[in-house]
Amino acid sequence: MKYCKKIIVMAGAGISTPSGIPDFRTPGSGLYDNLKKYNVPYAEAIFDIDYFTYNPRPFFALAKELYPGKYKPNIIHYFVRLLHEKGLLLRCYTQNIDGLERMAGIPSEKVVEAHGTFSTASCHLCYTSFPPKEARDCIMNGKSPRCKVCYGVVKPDIVFFGEDLPKQFSSFSTDFPKADLLIVMGTSLKIEPFANIVNAVRPNVPRLLINRDLVGPFKNEPLKSTDVAELGELCEVTRKFVSALNWQTDMDEVIKSQKL
Ligand code: OAD
Ligand code: ZN
Repeated sequence: MKYCKKIIVMAGAGISTPSGIPDFRTPGSGLYDNLKKYNVPYAEAIFDIDYFTYNPRPFFALAKELYPGKYKPNIIHYFVRLLHEKGLLLRCYTQNIDGLERMAGIPSEKVVEAHGTFSTASCHLCYTSFPPKEARDCIMNGKSPRCKVCYGVVKPDIVFFGEDLPKQFSSFSTDFPKADLLIVMGTSLKIEPFANIVNAVRPNVPRLLINRDLVGPFKNEPLKSTDVAELGELCEVTRKFVSALNWQTDMDEVIKSQKL
């Protein structure tokens, strides 16, 4: 890592489980195994744009739980921040909608929130933007925010199945060829198009997976010679890296400076 200067991080829900936010697909604890109370016909309906048009209530009930504010970044988010502080981070591509990368102090131009964000909101029919605070207040009070132009239901700008990814996502096509290391962490790499950009780095660039289980191209046998998988709990592996890199003092300082 010391010899790499243009690191891209691809992150998923697994980097936020140590902050107390469930991931999606871990059997038992993952969100998709715990949706009974929301009464959806199948798990992914809760994030499906056609289902939302038909019935937005399950998503709004879940959104009350998911709105950023309750949770804090953990050592993994701060590790990415540290990569930035050291001038090594080209970009962090995250699928997470919890905003913890921003909260850890990673500047917004260094983060691509590929599956959107709760920090803005718009009409799901005509895309007119809507004041995010008003949307939040409505949802928290159990009401559906309504578009001032067409009276369509407003939703936070998180990406649903059936919707396009935000336009910043397309920057992967210029970022990835510049990278000299790709770190993939806490994702099952099951959702396209995000999963596929793992293949957009140059062929000789090392790719490091940090995850509980093997995912995507890291499942290939034999493993490509430039791919490395470090299996285990993300916090533990991160701590190991911080200590191997002798970054402990910097890590402590970064966490202290955030004062959350
Ligand atoms: P998943 O729940 O599919 O995958 C999380 C991965 O992280 C799994 O491989 C877990 O084993 C691993 N994991 C969880 N906690 C960990 C920990 N503490 N240490 C190490 N590994 C851990 O989540 P994503 O891949 O992020 O999309 O899901 C992708 C997309 O699917 C989400 O962005 C969401 C969902 O549908 C939308 O809502 C559009
Ligand atoms: Zn509208």
